[in-house]
Formats: sequence, structure tokens, C-alpha cells
Amino acid sequence: MTHRNELPVPTVVHLHGGRTPPDSDGYPTDLVLPEGRPPSAPQGPHGMHDPRAVVTRLTRDYTFPMEQRAALLWYHDHRMDFTAPAIWRGLAGLHIVRDEAEDSLGLPAGPRELPLMIADRAFGADGGLRYPSLDPSLRERPGVHDAYLAGVLGDVILVNGAPWPVHEVDAARYRLRLLNASNARHYELEAVTDDGRRLDLVQVGADQGLLAAPVAHRTLPIAPAERYDVVVDFAGVPVGGRVRVRNRLGSGRTRDVLAFRVARAAADHSRVPRVLSADAPAWRRSDAVRVRDLSFRAGRMRGGHGWLIGGLPFDPARTDVTVGLGDVEVWRLIADVHHPVHLHLAGFRVLSRGGGPPLPHDAGLKDTVSLRPGESAEIVTRFDGYRGRYLFHCHNAEHEDMGMMANLEIH
Ligand code: C2O
Ligand code: CU
Ligand code: CU
Repeated sequence: MTHRNELPVPTVVHLHGGRTPPDSDGYPTDLVLPEGRPPSAPQGPHGMHDPRAVVTRLTRDYTFPMEQRAALLWYHDHRMDFTAPAIWRGLAGLHIVRDEAEDSLGLPAGPRELPLMIADRAFGADGGLRYPSLDPSLRERPGVHDAYLAGVLGDVILVNGAPWPVHEVDAARYRLRLLNASNARHYELEAVTDDGRRLDLVQVGADQGLLAAPVAHRTLPIAPAERYDVVVDFAGVPVGGRVRVRNRLGSGRTRDVLAFRVARAAADHSRVPRVLSADAPAWRRSDAVRVRDLSFRAGRMRGGHGWLIGGLPFDPARTDVTVGLGDVEVWRLIADVHHPVHLHLAGFRVLSRGGGPPLPHDAGLKDTVSLRPGESAEIVTRFDGYRGRYLFHCHNAEHEDMGMMANLEIH
């Protein structure tokens, strides 16, 4: 795929959840420079120099082999220091990987499969997007005003770009493929009928594809960058009725996300099989050749506020973690406040949370795990696919821009 940058600022595209060779993974300094800027500017305004950066001008060719499980991925800008404002302004989209095994399950499909990208934004009186950048041109000085160091929240909830949309549905099962594309907002979703009844959210898939078996939720937490694949059955809702998808963590208008209006009765030949997939890797703790501890905490960076991994802010020139190709490892992650932790390249399983068992929505193969305040979690993964330089980071996009990334070298 050729990407062409027609913006006035550098960009670099990352396919989130992709099993992608390192030179196509959208490393933050692998910039595609805009027209009229010297191709020798891999150096961020922070003065960090990355000797391994591969900078191109105007275009860059990416290879996405798609040798991976069927899953809902997404792509977004990953530019050093400026990822958060770039995503906020719209450099993000969905990418669906399908396969025959999934197609043959009989899950709701066609117009009854809805990819839903949920994101909060803020708008000025002129209708333009508002974001508290220190440098609104996104050219020189990175960062946001002090009030937003924890992350930027908007007061309008967009779904696929539309504020609080209402979608007409048949009284039948629908497959909702949810992405939280918000920079920093967490949601706990519920689907509520006019008479206050909560519909089951039957989870069939996680970040990295189908679960082994469905898991029913009444409410579903979803952190930035996480994806959940859920089936909702509108059959019991009277024609003309509404089902509101709400965020239990919101307040005022941010409690509303979207709504469905049941427009008509209809035949439904879809099903949710008891066994969804058998191909997900099942690494165990005992397979691990190494256990690592990684902390995600606030700290100081360049004389100001930063978000640090293992006590350090991101430096492209430093290798933080080196793993062997094919090695299974257990990582123990610990957080001070909410941090959705994401690994590039490698899907993982959640082994434990806070010393106890994982939560019901931790099921399946994930690439982002939401650490709650003060919480630790253990994940297990096998690093395979490609050798090279990858990242792991917090997916609160403002935290990410304020240092909360680290290098993962697979060799
Ligand atoms: Cu959405 Cu570095 O990733
Ligand atoms: Cu990613
Ligand atoms: Cu964070």
C-alpha cells in the first residue's frame, strides 16, 4: 500500500493489531515528510535523534501481509510527539481482516454487521475541532496545556464520525464491532431498552479475533484502542422501540453513545455457535522463558510532567526490552492511574489481574489491556512473526505523546 502525505506536517501510519514487518509498522520516527520540508528532519523538536529512522518524502510503501487471525484492526497516525492531536483530527480508521472459518460460523452479517468506531471530540462555535495543543500548527512544540496532562476528553461522542447517531435495525441479532478510538476516554457500555431493560452484550471476539466461546456481559468496559466484537439481539424489543447504548462512566451528554431504533420484524437466520474458534494460541505461564516487570507511572521528563515506563520516558535510540524470536514471556504490568497498555506485533493473553483471575472481558487474544488505577496484570505472549524493532506503549494518546512508550527489539 502506498501512503501519500498531503498534509502540512509529517505523518506515519501504524496498523494497530497488524502482524506487520518492522519497516512497515509505522515506527514514530519513520516519518513521511510533507512537501517542501527537507528530508533530513528525523529529529523531533525534543532534539531526540534516531539513527535508525527511515524518513521518506511525500510517499512511502507499506507491506501488510495479513498473515493473521480474522480480527478488527485499526490504523492511525503514530508520529513522534504528535500522535494524539493527529488521531483527534481524524487520522484513524478501521481495517477488517476476514477468513473462511469466521464466515462459515453464521454470525450476523451484511447489513447486520456494524463496525462502530467510538470517539469523543470537542468542537468550537465554528464547528471546527478543538484540541488544547501548545502549538496548534503541530509543527514545533509538542504537548497540551497543563490541565490536560492526564489526557484530553471531548464532550461530544462520535460514532463513525457522527454525533450520537441513531441507527434503524430489524428486530434481529446484530454483530457490533466496537473500537474505542478515543484518545483518553474510557467507556463502560450497556444497551438499555425504553423500559429500562439491559440487553445482553454477547462477546464473540476480542482485539485479536474470535474467542473460543461466547461470553455474555451486562456491561462492557472498553479502554482506548481496545476492540470488542459483540452480538446484540433486538428480537425482544417491540417494533418502534429504542435501544440506547450508554456509557456508565460518562456524565450528562457523555453518558449517551448511540441508539438503535427497531424498525421492523424480520426473519433471522444468524446464530452464535457455542464454539467460535479453536485456533487461538494457548500459552501457559509454564511456557515462559522469562518474567519481566514493567511499571507505568507519572514522572518527570525534560524538566516537565511525563508518563514513564520502567521509570524512563521514551527514547527511540534506547532499546528497552530485547526478546528472542519465538520466545514466550510473561510480563507483569503495574499502573498508577488508568493505562491501556498495547504491544505492537504480538497478541497476548491476560493471565491475572491484581493477583486474581482475569475479568470476563479479558477473554481471548488481545493486543491492548486496560490497567485500572493501582492495578497490576500479567500477560503472556510469544514473540513471533518478524525480527526487528517494535514498540509497546500506553494507548492513552496523550500519555503516549508524553513519553509513555518503549522499544521492543525482537532478535
Ligand atoms: Cu494503536 Cu502503537 O498503536
Ligand atoms: Cu499498535
Ligand atoms: Cu497511560
